[in-house]
Amino acid sequence: MDYLKEITGSDGSELAGKKIAMCVTASVSITEAPRIARALMRHGADVTIVLTREARDLVSSPVFEWSTGNRPITEITGRVEHVELASSVDLVLVAPCTANSLSKFASGIADDPVSTLICTILGTGVPLVIAQAMHEPMLKNPILQESMEKLKKIGAAFVSGRLEESKSKLATPEEILEAVIASLSPEKPHEYNLELQSIGFLITAGPTREPIDQVRFISNGSSGKMGVALAQACLRGSAGDVCLIAGPGVSIPPNIKDIKNVVTTEEMLQAVLKELDSGKYDVFISAGAPADYGVAHPKSGKINTSEKEQLSIELNATPKIIKAAKDKHPEVCVVSFKAEYGSELIRRSKESMQQSGSDLVVANDVSRGDIGFGSDQNEVTLVPREGDPKFLKKATKDEIADQILDFIVERKLVNF
Ligand SMILES: Cc1cc2nc3c(=O)[nH]c(=O)nc-3n(C[C@H](O)[C@H](O)[C@H](O)COP(=O)(O)O)c2cc1C
Repeated sequence: MDYLKEITGSDGSELAGKKIAMCVTASVSITEAPRIARALMRHGADVTIVLTREARDLVSSPVFEWSTGNRPITEITGRVEHVELASSVDLVLVAPCTANSLSKFASGIADDPVSTLICTILGTGVPLVIAQAMHEPMLKNPILQESMEKLKKIGAAFVSGRLEESKSKLATPEEILEAVIASLSPEKPHEYNLELQSIGFLITAGPTREPIDQVRFISNGSSGKMGVALAQACLRGSAGDVCLIAGPGVSIPPNIKDIKNVVTTEEMLQAVLKELDSGKYDVFISAGAPADYGVAHPKSGKINTSEKEQLSIELNATPKIIKAAKDKHPEVCVVSFKAEYGSELIRRSKESMQQSGSDLVVANDVSRGDIGFGSDQNEVTLVPREGDPKFLKKATKDEIADQILDFIVERKLVNF
């Protein structure tokens, strides 16, 4: 079957000499699997397909033999091919990965060729890349989210596709190829600018809550991950003082020591002004997502729903934290985040800059479900008051945070 491998290396040599086990599970995106395998081969890889029983029912295995030139593994047999494969592969890719298989990996279940291979390689240092494909409700299932977090903690890399028509579509073969190449390339540590060490950062993260009564509130879906990533980047770069003001529900790693917890927008505002008054900070990054409206007359106790068929609530705009911070401390470089739907990000960012007085707007398109709110990834455009905007392509929030700090230092946005 060597003639089937003639395409090997035709588009690049990044994966030359690499043996990849590509696990395929029973998602409707299984039709993409041969294209993904061929893309890996075109960049030099030798690919062996491993199929779940359900996947084998959807697409017959000879298709994969013809795609890769290697006989797929379709059963757990006495020949323990999965064990041999586990000890000889350079990387395991699961594409597409169903909710069912993902849950099995996170629980240590090994009852088919794919879950048995994953169970064998987890913890051995063999890189694992997972490209998930499922319905939106499944993807948002907290148990599944927990499984993904669990797998990430032990080193699995996830390639998110797009959320379209309520389905988490599989990433493109090009995106999966890129993730595989990145997982096999030794990580280059980010080089932080030495000037960072003399810059103090105050950062907000997460949502705020505005009470309706004593048990209900208005809030939003911000996870606080971007603010936390920025605080982490500051610490990695040995920045001066680093303080994080966090709204409710933000998960904060233990290495961030200086934390102020707040609940309402007013509390966030007061905490920001108090910290800025200390004179310790050169940059205020407003990565939090305070609720824009608060209830004019919150009720004490609990509104009884059986007594009220309809409930009208009067809302008032909450204070604008960025404007208040800049008005009181014009010497501080203020960075704001602007979530916008669709096009005209830059024009709208410039407009918001005029209103709020911020010096740099980090603009992202929240109409895309694969980035921004709650996601681990982001894709943003940095719009400074003067000079050209800079587009940062889709990357983890940690990488985006590093690049935002680089931009602040390189464009000399800090007043010393
Ligand atoms: C045509 C078809 C398409 C499916 N697509 C998906 C999908 O995209 N994602 C998913 O999580 N499950 C999907 N399922 C359900 C899974 O196939 C089912 O959960 C199965 O048990 C998964 O088995 P496996 O993970 O062992 O391959 C689909 C089922 C069928 C019949």
